[in-house]
Amino acid sequence: MKGIKIRGMGRCVPERVVTNGDMAERVDTSDEWITSRTGIRRRHHCTGETHTSLCAGAARAALERSGVSPEEIGACIVATVTADNLVPSAACALQRELGLPGDIPCFDLSAACTGFLFALHTMECLLNASPRKFGLVVGADTLSRVTNWDDRGTCILFGDGAGAAVVECREGWPSIGAELGCHGDERLLRLPGVESGERSLISMEGTRVFKFAVEAVPWCMDRVLERSGYTLEDVDFFVFHQANARIIDLAARKYRIPPEKYYKNIAEYGNTSAASIPLVLSELEDMGRVGPGSRTLVVGFGGGLTWGGCVIEFTDGRV
Ligand code: ACO
Repeated sequence: MKGIKIRGMGRCVPERVVTNGDMAERVDTSDEWITSRTGIRRRHHCTGETHTSLCAGAARAALERSGVSPEEIGACIVATVTADNLVPSAACALQRELGLPGDIPCFDLSAACTGFLFALHTMECLLNASPRKFGLVVGADTLSRVTNWDDRGTCILFGDGAGAAVVECREGWPSIGAELGCHGDERLLRLPGVESGERSLISMEGTRVFKFAVEAVPWCMDRVLERSGYTLEDVDFFVFHQANARIIDLAARKYRIPPEKYYKNIAEYGNTSAASIPLVLSELEDMGRVGPGSRTLVVGFGGGLTWGGCVIEFTDGRV
């Protein structure tokens, strides 16, 4: 079994910033309510941008950062629930945009906010079965397009964005050791599809999802640590899905994670679904807080219900 490491990250968010004040002009809410309940202050919403243009922006940045050319990519996965089209997939659109090789698998993966972690695991499996050593993993969502503006409990939460990782797979590297799971019987977060007869707008039982998340995050962290054999002290940085600052702070408090070992960007972006985790990783890489030599434990949860965690390392290309 070969393992994967991240060679370079990239990100792309729409230009238009929507503040809590802008939200309060549209629905019955306030900056105080949103900030204190969620930690969100702003989010970015698409105007001219498309899902495809966000994916391409993030992927180009990741390729440039990693020094890998499009022709070297061996598989491309886009984790998303809001692609521009169901067919062709977002990954096929990206293949066309970037000029990725024609003889590689390019496909989308649906696991809501946990999508990027499901995609990393899938990529590790694919590259183990491939003669090529690089893969492109993108997490991207444009939830502003499926926002229900009659529901103040959800419309204030979501923002648009994309994050991408170029990963490298080598013999002798440890597996990311992904722990993934689903509760298909819990339909607490829904986005109806074309045949459902319902409008394709997001609905969520927020309080119940909150309770699920507060239990799922530590449960998942414990499983990842147990499987990998690492202790909390072996981990240099902790990355959490950015759904609610209170969920992240509760986990940090439970494990006594010091502030310098975890990061929140939810104030700037809101909940960007599948883009949330790669947006954090990309910012941390730019700040030099994660990179070659550091070990990061990543945990996510989302609609499905789904959850997942893994241990991520970076490489600069030198073995
Ligand atoms: N502004 C003002 N008041 C509001 C707003 C708003 N935007 N939204 C709801 N309220 C009101 C409600 O009407 C309710 O009023 P009432 O008491 O008079 O009935 C009150 O505030 C409390 O509402 P709750 O829904 O109980 O608020 P809660 O504290 O649970 O916060 C929130 C809601 C922020 C959504 C929280 O439950 C949460 O973060 N849940 C987790 C969401 C999540 O993690 N999702 C991850 C998956 S996302 C994905 O996969 C794409």
